[in-house]
Amino acid sequence: MSDTAQLTYKGKTMEFPVVEGTENELAIDIKALRASSGMITLDPGYKNTGSCESAITFLNGEKGILRYRGYSIEELAEHADFLEVAYLLIFGELPTKEQLAKFDHDIKAESHVDEEMKKILDGFPKSAHPMGVIASLTSALIAFNPSSVNVSSEKDMYHAIVRLLAKFPVLVSWTHRKRMGLPLDYGDDSLGYVENIHKMMFKRPNKEYQKNPLVIEALDKLLILHADHEQNCSTSTVRIVGSSHAGLFASISAGISALWGPLHGGANQAVLEMLQAIADDDGDTKKYMAKAKDKEDPFRLMGFGHRVYKNFDPRAKIIKRSADNVLGSLHMEDPLLEIAKGLEKEALEDPYFVKRKLYPNVDFYSGIIYRALGIPVEMFTVMFALGRLPGWIAQWREMRLRGEPIGRPRQVYIGETLRPFKKLEDR
Ligand code: ACO
Repeated sequence: MSDTAQLTYKGKTMEFPVVEGTENELAIDIKALRASSGMITLDPGYKNTGSCESAITFLNGEKGILRYRGYSIEELAEHADFLEVAYLLIFGELPTKEQLAKFDHDIKAESHVDEEMKKILDGFPKSAHPMGVIASLTSALIAFNPSSVNVSSEKDMYHAIVRLLAKFPVLVSWTHRKRMGLPLDYGDDSLGYVENIHKMMFKRPNKEYQKNPLVIEALDKLLILHADHEQNCSTSTVRIVGSSHAGLFASISAGISALWGPLHGGANQAVLEMLQAIADDDGDTKKYMAKAKDKEDPFRLMGFGHRVYKNFDPRAKIIKRSADNVLGSLHMEDPLLEIAKGLEKEALEDPYFVKRKLYPNVDFYSGIIYRALGIPVEMFTVMFALGRLPGWIAQWREMRLRGEPIGRPRQVYIGETLRPFKKLEDR
């Protein structure tokens, strides 16, 4: 017999089952609440609301734990590559050598993008924000791959997943190359997944592509660290759009739009812009710390704070080390890295940040690495989307396989009650 929780309202006591997850997380199952009490729960921002049961990612914000399918992010970042992690997230287990080789082969077989897509890309001005471009192109892919996925067929599902994993990096590279005025590039099947992304983005038309294992390793690690983060804003968007039985590509396109905002994935661009503004202001970190603490000032220290991590963001620790390594091995010095470290030190000692448990998040250092790799600031959030793609796919697949109902929250209406219509001449 599982535990129950009681709710008493106006002398009537109702009982609700308590659900326990495999990591002992507890939730009150209120499915019957409205039917038994006439009430709903009110939780703007869903800070206390579990929208689903999921077996993909576990995180504990208090202890700073992040695991994909039970494997710690630290071990995955150290030992696995991005394609293995993508397979793990989507299908639940680390692939065998044979499974990984087949996955890689199947992705490569689907990596062409219809030439007609170039016309759509051409329609965008060069100045268009790449997140808007990539969301539109992902949505446009539907027109070229119109067959809807029969989710009860594993084969159909696998095919759709592989197609998206194959074509999305091409669209990312095309978005980047158009901005840079470079001719569009196609992948090279002899390269690994991440190496191929790098080649497609950076190959100069008049030069051989130069492999740099250090750069690929750093990029691989960044993509792994971004690959999933349970029910965040963009992932919830993917699941809720998918819950209407909209297709995979449409759901992912919606997730990209959600990721764009500066309070979510757009923070990595915002961090770099903030660090640059501080550098241009004689490196005056104290001034920006004061602005962040001033309640009259809308400025926030970008890259600080997290909805769930109230101790530290384990991804930020790995990324900070990686930023040091990348800059060291590329023999680069970046004054913005020094400003970032200075800000972090000040914030960690400041009572305002300590009291509110505000720590650097994944985006605080990722921009420094992207910059060192030659990725322009406006592409940062697109790189995040590239990393998050397997997570979104895994969450969409899980939601469809579990046959979850359409997502449709309720509200507490606080508007006018019924009133008589007033004709225009009487207003
Ligand atoms: N700078 C200054 N103060 C902050 C910051 C910050 N970056 N973040 C939170 N606070 C303060 C708030 O003003 C609030 O103070 P109060 O209690 O005196 O009103 C308190 O800390 C709690 O903040 P909330 O906004 O209620 O926390 P919430 O969990 O809703 O927001 C969020 C989390 C959106 C990440 C927030 O910390 C923020 O805006 N950070 C900057 C943007 C950023 O880095 N986003 C990336 C998140 S990671 C990702 O999406 C991959």
